[in-house]
Amino acid sequence: MDPETPSTIVVRNTQRGDFPYIADICRRVYPKTPPWSERELDSHLHVFPEGQFVAVETTRGAVVGMDAALIIHWHDYDLHASWRKFTDNGMFTNHNPQHGRTMYAAEIMVDPDVQHHHVGSHLYEHRRNLVRRLGLLRIRGGSRLRGYGRHATELSPHDYVLEVVNGRLHDPTLSFQLHEGFHVFGVVSGYLDDDPESMGYAALIEWMNPDIAQPQHTEGRDPRFIKA
Ligand SMILES: CC(C)(COP(=O)(O)OP(=O)(O)OC[C@H]1O[C@@H](n2cnc3c(N)ncnc32)[C@H](O)[C@@H]1OP(=O)(O)O)[C@@H](O)C(=O)NCCC(=O)NCCS
Repeated sequence: MDPETPSTIVVRNTQRGDFPYIADICRRVYPKTPPWSERELDSHLHVFPEGQFVAVETTRGAVVGMDAALIIHWHDYDLHASWRKFTDNGMFTNHNPQHGRTMYAAEIMVDPDVQHHHVGSHLYEHRRNLVRRLGLLRIRGGSRLRGYGRHATELSPHDYVLEVVNGRLHDPTLSFQLHEGFHVFGVVSGYLDDDPESMGYAALIEWMNPDIAQPQHTEGRDPRFIKA
């Protein structure tokens, strides 16, 4: 795909017919873990259809990315909870639009053949617009530290994140999310099981809705995680 023609990408809500394409992308992005199952994807559409997106490359009619999320009441969870806990084992049945003000970004992935062509950026743009439309306070999620495994002998996960935040190292996931306006507010272990690249470590990240956010919502953030 031509990197100069992002207008060929359309983002729309996920439909059942997209599931085989999502599974195919998933197999290529995460070859060592089972792909999203039809049962899980069906459950996402059942509980929160408006929150599930795919990116379609219009000239080929091909699904080239997906972005899945749910709404949670943040204080129901421990800061160190795992991805499984935040997503009810990938089913999103803990979706809580009555009390929740946090969109939990459970997944974003782009076909490896078209990464770095702004597909992820289009998906996040739609995610941010949805948060603003629903009047939610923020998006939060765990950014799995895919580049950490290569630096684990010389850096702690915390120091690795500081290097990425300050632009001295690139992480394939976190650098993208920082570029998309997210901030780090913590580093946790045991976030994902069976992820040798990150060794289970993740940066907790958030994007604040500018229509709503007040200074007190980001009070107490570790200043070292704020980009120099
Ligand atoms: C992370 C991911 C979704 C990004 O999608 P993408 O379509 O490749 O990203 P984009 O092309 O939209 O990038 C948007 C911007 O971020 C920048 N960016 C993307 N990846 C980057 C990286 N690794 N380092 C630095 N900047 C990066 C791009 O240069 C672009 O900036 P620009 O607008 O100034 O050119 C994709 O790489 C992916 O699917 N990774 C595997 C799955 C994964 O790890 N998901 C996250 C789970 S927490």
